Amino acid sequence: MQAGEMTPLRGELRVPGDKSIGHRSLMLGALADGIVEVSGLGTGEDNRATQALLEAMGVRIERSGTDARVHGVGLDGLRPPEGALDCGNSGTTMRLMLGILAGQPFEVTLIGDASLSRRPMRRVLDPLTRMGLTVLDAREGTFAPLRVRGRRPLSAIAYDSPIASAQIKSAVMLAGLFAEGETVVREPAPSRDHTERMLAWLGRPPRARPIRVPGDLSSAAFLMGAALLVPGSDITIAGVGTNPTRTGFLDVLDAMGASVERRAPREDNGEPSCDLVVRHRPLRGTTVGGELSVRAIDELPLVATLAAIAEGPTRIRDAEELRVKESDRIARTAQMLRSFGVPVDEHPDGMTIHGDPERALRAGRVDAHGDHRIAMCGTLMALIAPPGTRIEGGESIASSFPSFHASLEAVGARLPGGGDLE
Ligand code: S3P
Repeated sequence: MQAGEMTPLRGELRVPGDKSIGHRSLMLGALADGIVEVSGLGTGEDNRATQALLEAMGVRIERSGTDARVHGVGLDGLRPPEGALDCGNSGTTMRLMLGILAGQPFEVTLIGDASLSRRPMRRVLDPLTRMGLTVLDAREGTFAPLRVRGRRPLSAIAYDSPIASAQIKSAVMLAGLFAEGETVVREPAPSRDHTERMLAWLGRPPRARPIRVPGDLSSAAFLMGAALLVPGSDITIAGVGTNPTRTGFLDVLDAMGASVERRAPREDNGEPSCDLVVRHRPLRGTTVGGELSVRAIDELPLVATLAAIAEGPTRIRDAEELRVKESDRIARTAQMLRSFGVPVDEHPDGMTIHGDPERALRAGRVDAHGDHRIAMCGTLMALIAPPGTRIEGGESIASSFPSFHASLEAVGARLPGGGDLE
């Protein structure tokens, strides 16, 4: 397909609620002292997993679409679940819930899907053990299935995290709710601070106050990416979260020559949001590293995808954490882009993508390996590649953005091959 044959993407739309804020609204809502009304909650499987775990521990959650009424049970109200707690594909569910479980005086087994069962948990088990969690069982000391027993009260700690990770930080902070004294976490670079903002909003112990979840920038990014790949596009995504610890992708776009206009800013429960207007522009290569890599961590496979059609190379560094996400995202992104004919060099902590706006792409073969973000990147490449791309594992997109294909179609994207992309 030639660029000229593609229909520009046009229109205004919304994306599902922010996944990170959704997890925290359910967990902290469950620990609050009354009913917490949550609006704008994402309907993806990851947030559903968090909801199911809390329900299994006796929390009543009434769902109606994107609204939830969480009947908080207070800090002392969780009950031992009957069976194992299944976190599905969701690392945030498992790691943050471990922080809460550290403060529960009962034994619990946590399980996950094949991808989650390969992700390291020692990083949260270490500090939580120091606070008083007992790890009864963990495969190779770090992988799920995990069998743990908490206790009350926990010991407060000052923790110097070796990794800039909001999941580690949040697990320790949530355990800190059940500790005597002050718990402190220091991190090598600022990771997303949604837990801090929500605790500031609800207080300690958490009080019942309403929470409005903004649209997920990490989902919006894929629609923005589509508009930047398809010439002539001009789309607006309304009500997207713009917490500065999350907006690294917008800074990277700026450096690549595509400014995104921000309109109608607002703030709810300490979380800023606005409408984002993105218009197609030719892109140039850039370098992403240091703190910017942390602030754009979930969008780096997408940055690599956009870099494929940029002028000149793009270097992504200081991103070794990508290797322990839902898949090894350095290896998977490189393999995905190469299948479309884009040269990529892999590094231990990132990759170099050799961009060329004139390159003739070929149809790709993508194995998403249960990783929603790789599947979405492959789908975007399929929009600009000749017909025939095959994507395996596309069902993983439901973990964060079940309406992804429908959203692309709503702004006029023609998804090639129909069922091929599923
Ligand atoms: C998340 C933190 C990040 C991010 C993940 C969600 C969170 O992981 O990649 O998608 O909600 O706290 P790390 O904290 O492991 O970097």
